[in-house]
Amino acid sequence: SERTLVLIKPDGVARGLVGDVIGRIERKGLTIVAMDLRTLDADTAKAHYAEHSSKPFFDSLVEFITSGPLVAMVVEGPRAIEAFRGLAGLTDPVKAAPGTIRGDHALEIGENIVHGSDAPESASREIKIFFPDRF
Ligand code: GTP
Ligand code: MG
Repeated sequence: SERTLVLIKPDGVARGLVGDVIGRIERKGLTIVAMDLRTLDADTAKAHYAEHSSKPFFDSLVEFITSGPLVAMVVEGPRAIEAFRGLAGLTDPVKAAPGTIRGDHALEIGENIVHGSDAPESASREIKIFFPDRF
């Protein structure tokens, strides 16, 4: 079994999609083992997105992810990282298949509803950022 960090980003919370995203995670058979609603400060956001610090969209990414409350979760199950990224769909919501979270609910790459860790090393790094005393 594997763990992944899932975020329902501020656009997903503001649009009332928390229940939809959690429902998909549960129906898939994954288990939520930690969950918290919080607004990130800029330092936490920059740490989370450190791999993108040299990208042209980094400042807007940090501004967006700190713009309001998000839901952070640790999700567990067999191949949880790949399983959740399958539920999320491709990064660009226009390319994401219908039936996925992004394919069903979004149009803009900067506002794509959810985050899911992309590898075991990023999952453990990100889980430590969000839930430092629990895992
Ligand atoms: P996350 O699960 O959020 O990490 O998405 P991802 O792994 O599918 O994409 P990636 O890690 O490459 O990018 C992180 C986030 O940056 C994406 O979810 C987008 O919101 C944003 N992003 C990525 N590429 C672009 C881009 O070209 N322009 C803009 N404005 N945002 C981007
Ligand atoms: Mg990513």
